[in-house]
Amino acid sequence: MKLTNTNKNAEGSVCWKSPSNIALVKYWGKHGIQLPINPSISITLRESVTTTGIDFQHTDAGKGPEIDFFFENKPAPDFGKRIQKFLESQVEQYPVIQNLQMVIRSSNTFPHSSGIASSASAFSALALDIVTIARNYSGAKPERDFYNEVSELARLGSGSASRSVYGGYAVWGGMKEYPEYSDNYAVPVSTSIHKNFQEIQDAILIVNAGTKKVGSSAGHNLMNNHPFAQARVQQANKHMLELHKILSTGDTERFIEIVENEALSLHGLMLSSNPGYFLFEENTIRIIERIRAFRQSSKIPVCFTLDAGPNVHLLYPGSNKVEVVEWIGNELLTFCHNQKWIDDGMGKGPVQLK
Ligand code: PMV
Repeated sequence: MKLTNTNKNAEGSVCWKSPSNIALVKYWGKHGIQLPINPSISITLRESVTTTGIDFQHTDAGKGPEIDFFFENKPAPDFGKRIQKFLESQVEQYPVIQNLQMVIRSSNTFPHSSGIASSASAFSALALDIVTIARNYSGAKPERDFYNEVSELARLGSGSASRSVYGGYAVWGGMKEYPEYSDNYAVPVSTSIHKNFQEIQDAILIVNAGTKKVGSSAGHNLMNNHPFAQARVQQANKHMLELHKILSTGDTERFIEIVENEALSLHGLMLSSNPGYFLFEENTIRIIERIRAFRQSSKIPVCFTLDAGPNVHLLYPGSNKVEVVEWIGNELLTFCHNQKWIDDGMGKGPVQLK
């Protein structure tokens, strides 16, 4: 949607709360302008969210957007610069922002740069705000679905952010078997979800809450010329197709195999990059071993996945919450940083706040 930048009444506030997500089939590697080399699917989270509010007003200067950025109530010029650059790159698509002075205030419910995808919740919240402002002050009739447009804008900030725009399961990346899927934006998954996977819980076990050694952008870039890149794309496509069937038939055993294989493959790609690196830690491995042993002994279908960091996402059915939480306390917290974990699970997607 193209908008004019002549609306001098542009003034007001907008605020959205938007969740992070955890990928089951991972996006790893990109090309062109933030396009994925393979399709991915994720679960949108309930508790790990970013709230971003923008107070804005029109300025005649026209050299904007002018931004003051506050993270957790403190000025954060480094984040501010990244956002400024991102918004400047969007002026052609959203001319209204060129004439805006914005005070942006953002806060997370979880530690940033800890392997919990803070860029996903941050860029989806920002994109929700920007598209809301653009639509409210343009006067033009929107040409596209709101969330579809937001997802595309969020993707340009951070690929995984494109999926946070929807509750439940979201897919980003084209698949010939599903013509509604696109590399440009995410959409809700196109399959019915079996009851086994409707109330999925995610205990995020914080092994290390510090900053990552190697960020995602550098990791994606290392997939260019990666010796296993072609095989990885094939593997991800195969997993996507199979997971669609599994999500509707309820095959928990195969779900676990695919999800764990995806997590280990992601970290395997990091190990075999040039230069190779690793983001898991000793306690990541200890937790994974305990999860597999508990699954075998208890017959409760717990499994793990990993983001690009050392923390472990322990996925399990809501119906087993009592036993699993007790076991986390007894066996797993000893491997967590300050015994910290986040009791998260599948969420319903972003919410606009007053
Ligand atoms: O959105 P980015 O560029 O931070 O990449 C995220 C990549 C993974 O989190 C590792 C996987 C994914 O699909 O979310």
